[in-house]
Amino acid sequence: MRLTQTSDLWWKNAVVYCLDVETFKDGNDDGIGDFRGLTQQIDYLAGLGVTCLWLMPFFPTPNRDDGYDITDFYSIDPRLGTLGDFVEFMRTAKDRGLRVIADLVVNHTSDQHPWFKQARSSKDNPFRDWYVWSDTPEPDDPKQVVFPDKENSFWELDKDSGQYYLHSFYKHQPDLNVGNPQVRDEITRILGFWMELGLSGFRVDAVPFLIQNVSPKLPDPHDFLADLRAFMSRREGSSILLGEVNVPYDEALTYFGDGNGTELTMCFDFIAMQRAWLSLARSEAEPLASALRERPKPPKDCQWAMFLRNHDELTLDKLTDEERQEVFDAFGPSPDMQIYGRGLRRRLPTMLGGDLRRIKMAYSLLFSLPGTPVIFYGEEIGLGENLEAEGRMAVRIPMQWAPEGGFSKAEPDREMPGGAYAPERVNVAAQKRDGDSLLRWFQLLIERYRECPELAWGEKRVLDCDHPAVLAHRCDADGATVLVVHNLSDTAADIELTLEGLAHCRLTDLLTDAVFDVGEDERVELPLDPHGSRWLRASAPDVPPEDASVKSQ
Ligand code: GLC
Ligand code: CA
Repeated sequence: MRLTQTSDLWWKNAVVYCLDVETFKDGNDDGIGDFRGLTQQIDYLAGLGVTCLWLMPFFPTPNRDDGYDITDFYSIDPRLGTLGDFVEFMRTAKDRGLRVIADLVVNHTSDQHPWFKQARSSKDNPFRDWYVWSDTPEPDDPKQVVFPDKENSFWELDKDSGQYYLHSFYKHQPDLNVGNPQVRDEITRILGFWMELGLSGFRVDAVPFLIQNVSPKLPDPHDFLADLRAFMSRREGSSILLGEVNVPYDEALTYFGDGNGTELTMCFDFIAMQRAWLSLARSEAEPLASALRERPKPPKDCQWAMFLRNHDELTLDKLTDEERQEVFDAFGPSPDMQIYGRGLRRRLPTMLGGDLRRIKMAYSLLFSLPGTPVIFYGEEIGLGENLEAEGRMAVRIPMQWAPEGGFSKAEPDREMPGGAYAPERVNVAAQKRDGDSLLRWFQLLIERYRECPELAWGEKRVLDCDHPAVLAHRCDADGATVLVVHNLSDTAADIELTLEGLAHCRLTDLLTDAVFDVGEDERVELPLDPHGSRWLRASAPDVPPEDASVKSQ
């Protein structure tokens, strides 16, 4: 595939790196990460090979939901720096070729936001209708409540006015009313503001909640998403919306914009993510393979976003009760590892028992699955969690740069884990000097992933494989083929595959230097180590594999 084409739709094979400025690097020695600290680490991020940074909320906040409760959409949390620091960060990121997107949290505001203070001050305040009110709310379905440890309803009584306001999340996060054209205008202004400062797009928080329960009802709530996308495209043609849309596939597809790709550019694939964990728990390919087979093709130019962990709980809400229990038993058996009855508040390496081979295989899978990989800061070094911290904060610990921590010269605001995951054992500095480290593995995977745009762009096929622990898939584009195989079990596996159209081809392993020849009958035998993985490029025996990937015209 030609680079001129693939770079044009940059998001389709981006590597997105999510981080919270607050936990990444402290630049002024007060124990809290900030933009100055982050800016100083941009070469590290560029060196890792990621292409796009996703910043978690960095706006002024009372911090009752780790910044997802905003009091001003147009400035910077003073603990993290100033707008001046932000602009310097953006300039430096751009200089190193990194794009930046940010969380767009407009389903709700903090209850301390001036808009809400105004809104609740009287029933005829002009801001009243910026939120959703009811005299007689519908009874709640307790199963739908998002944070059942803290809330038991979507509605909270505002005592002064006697009306209830809607809050899809915590009661201190009243939902904005996008049924009101002024609210829609304001959201557009927020997008425009940050795009003017250089953002390439947004990770849209809680998308299904954003467009439901609005008043008055919109003829089609999806029109609002299409309007946002159109606005952004007018301002900057290559900007994107990456949506948090945890719904079944057929419904998720509608968020791309009914087959024509006019709404979200990318949606997180929560279904494949959850089935991947079930596959890991069972050491069986089938749950993940079936998700990939069921997954609808996104509209042209759109893409699924793949992830294994993020900043929230590892939600397992789309598995059956029995399946969820299997994952709990395998990866989070103790009640303090579980949360909300549906998820785990752990990071990947601890769940995989610190088994480096298995961890490496899991990430090889992430980078080679069709879709844009999104990683959560620290995954590249195998950061652990701190179960002492409250709720989801367990996974939001400071980045570990050096044996002594390296996050801050002061005592960090948040605790780092001890034991096997303490900074002395898990840190960037040591892994940079160790060729077998997870960090080096990430660099290799990212480099290969970027060299194999077929993975992101190609026609995908999950192949029939006679070994239950092995997932084999191939991606074809422009006459080039990449084949990927993963062994999910801890015993070696010899597999045999049929590769349609590849008789007499040579397969070169891009992670080692092994080669395998496909027979006349289109069959090939491939040995796999325990938790082994292979990324193979097909070429005619006399063509170097690198050349097989490029079409000259
Ligand atoms: C999203 C975020 C989560 C936050 C919630 C409310 O689900 O990922 O962290 O608590 O929205 O904003
Ligand atoms: Ca600081």
